[in-house]
Amino acid sequence: MPFLSTYCTSCHGETKSKGDVTLNDISADLAAGKDIDLWNVVLKQLVLSEMPPAKEKKQPKESEINKVIDWINAELKKSGNVASLYHQLESPNYGNLVNHKKLFSGEIKTKPFSPARLWRMSEKVFDNVKSNYGVDVTNIRQPFLLDDKKGIRDYANLLFADSAVVNVLMANAGHCVDQLMEKNQAIRDLATGSPTPDQLGAAVSQHFKRVVFRDPSQDEINKYLGLYQGSVQEGGNREALRLMLMAVMLHPESVYRLEIGLGSEDSYGRRLLSPTELAYSIAYALTDSRPDRSLLQAAESGKLKTKDDVHEQVSRMLADESIDKPRILRFFQEFFNYNQAHKIFKDEGRSGGFRYYSENYPRMYERDADFFVMNILDKDKDVFRQLLLSDEYFILNRQTFRNTVFDFYERNKPLIDSGIISEDKTKELLKALGLKSWGELNVKYYLHGFDRGFRGSAGEIKKMANAVRTDQPKSTSKEISEAMHPLYTKMPMVYDLGDNEQNFLLPQPYKRPNRAGMLTHPAWLIAFSLNDHTDPIRRGKWIRERLLAGLVPNVPITVDATIPVDHHKTLRERLTVTEKQECWRCHEQMNPLGHPFEIYDDFGRYRTEEFLDKLPKVNGRYPSKPVNAAGALTGTGEIGLDGEVKDALELIKKLADSDKVRQSMIRHVFRYYMGRNEMLSDSVTLMEADRAYLESGGSFKALVVSLLTSDSFLYRKTL
Ligand code: HEC
Ligand code: HEC
Repeated sequence: MPFLSTYCTSCHGETKSKGDVTLNDISADLAAGKDIDLWNVVLKQLVLSEMPPAKEKKQPKESEINKVIDWINAELKKSGNVASLYHQLESPNYGNLVNHKKLFSGEIKTKPFSPARLWRMSEKVFDNVKSNYGVDVTNIRQPFLLDDKKGIRDYANLLFADSAVVNVLMANAGHCVDQLMEKNQAIRDLATGSPTPDQLGAAVSQHFKRVVFRDPSQDEINKYLGLYQGSVQEGGNREALRLMLMAVMLHPESVYRLEIGLGSEDSYGRRLLSPTELAYSIAYALTDSRPDRSLLQAAESGKLKTKDDVHEQVSRMLADESIDKPRILRFFQEFFNYNQAHKIFKDEGRSGGFRYYSENYPRMYERDADFFVMNILDKDKDVFRQLLLSDEYFILNRQTFRNTVFDFYERNKPLIDSGIISEDKTKELLKALGLKSWGELNVKYYLHGFDRGFRGSAGEIKKMANAVRTDQPKSTSKEISEAMHPLYTKMPMVYDLGDNEQNFLLPQPYKRPNRAGMLTHPAWLIAFSLNDHTDPIRRGKWIRERLLAGLVPNVPITVDATIPVDHHKTLRERLTVTEKQECWRCHEQMNPLGHPFEIYDDFGRYRTEEFLDKLPKVNGRYPSKPVNAAGALTGTGEIGLDGEVKDALELIKKLADSDKVRQSMIRHVFRYYMGRNEMLSDSVTLMEADRAYLESGGSFKALVVSLLTSDSFLYRKTL
């Protein structure tokens, strides 16, 4: 109460009640269930350092605030309520609740840390490790599916092993052990004989290594043997053996990675990750695989204990081209979400020749966009600005592709049919590539090739070219390797046509510079579009939240969020429904940032006219209205950034030069690599990361090194 009357009631008291909040009469009796909601909002204001307002002279000390926060937390707990705030603060959508200005102000000196935690293994890691089970993995199901929403998905606090996950794990363990008992000679012998404890112990050790990737301790072996002993009487040897081996597969370390902080504790109550924990954290930050030999060796030989050690390992891995680092590209896919374009259905008829082969064409744009990103990462200079500004466009060399790869493979027609290659050779080639059919090559390479990472699937291409080369006339191998190798041609971003009747896929001579970076890339524009029109609201929301560190509240359930139908109006004209006062308080934050993109249609084509394509054609053309792409930056909190813009290009230029935009992107990189939202206590980490990025001339690698050697990455604390 003294705290509130000193710092708050001048604005929230009897005479004034700012924001409709009065605090002079708030009930301190939380156990009685009174004013719980109000205390929750107060807590939020204090945790996020929102109140008292920064401009207010009389500011409480950090220690005073912490005392009050602790008190509210304790009282809420006593009353049986856990503060809803923490749940929000941890969820990916609410990362921006933490005050941006404060984070980058330099006033927070707290020593950063991450909460001690378990982090469920990622989907991709699981896919990679299951091959070590030593069985046919066709029946092994993915237990760790994350929901497929837009944004950074792999947070440590998401998707614990609940009963659904455990069911899948149990079924996997069953399949796996059944196979081993049938096909693995040693285990089959155990199942049919009457094994000694030593033999059982050896089987446990071996299986443990397959699944958990280390030797079990004697204690652990004894535990499994105990399980066997406990069930052998009732179930018999075979069943007990099965149960025991299944239990090994459910070991927590085959489900979670440990980030408890098993190293030494410092004077701030933080514990360093142990060398083994670090080996795993570094490996999973950069790759989809378990730690490589060098990491494990460093951990075992005491060379993974300090910040410098980590620096050395991270730099080594980043520099080594032979290490696949798919997580780097994946950050950009999840941040920009251009990889969601294929989910948006587009009517072929409306597109004017948009369809390409039988493939879902937006996937092709997604891969073009991957290539766009990879090229910028290759240069590793001024990365964020380049991503927003570059007018280079990388287009899959579709012509060559069609003539060779498509004709040979896409129709699932073996080379044999074209008389180029013998049946034996075909089989051999398929075997060399690890494929069952040419159709599979198409799926594997063509659809998923660039999923695999930074270096694309160059290795696969080489493998294929080599396999062909060994025994074939030069012309054939040349043809194929030429088709596969320089798959991408650099173009200015110019496949724009004013006329929607033309097939825009064909690159046109450079006409006008009407593209600027990812937000004008067709993959992004399609990912943020609806089936038959653009989507200024969600484009604007994306910019507000990803680039300007803002947070737009969800659509209230009471609002009818449908766009009125009127075939005579442009989309923008129809969206004026959101300009009513009760709507505008939210939509003001989105629409003016999204409207500038109306210079592109919902296929990502540049335009100056919006065609009213639900009306009948006149003289072979749809009636049209001129595009109005005017918009504005408002409420950004950065000096000189707010203001009107005439179209997306002007908007993007302003964004690209903004400190806040850069910092906002860095906050997302932080979330991706730490697997959680930032807290105010991560301020030092974020500011150092920002500095490392700037001082290196905008190197993404330097940024990653800075984050992975930060206290936020290295230290754990139990909250
Ligand atoms: C200088 C005046 C001033 C002081 C001092 C002040 N506030 Fe506020 N407070 C405001 C204003 C203005 C608003 C409403 C607008 C806003 O949210 O910024 C507000 C809003 C709030 C809200 C509602 C927020 C919401 O999301 O609905 C809470 C809770 C609050 N203040 C708590 C506090 C607490 C606790 C203190 C003291 C530590 C405090 N305020 C001190 C001016 C003040
Ligand atoms: C509390 C904030 C908020 C308020 C108030 C609000 N909206 Fe929205 N609205 C949103 C958000 C956020 C979205 C984007 C939804 C999404 O991301 O799926 C949205 C989307 C929409 C859409 C697009 C729906 C679509 O399917 O494309 C329409 C139309 C819309 N709002 C109309 C309105 C109208 C009309 C009002 C006032 C009566 C209103 N909104 C009030 C936050 C709000």
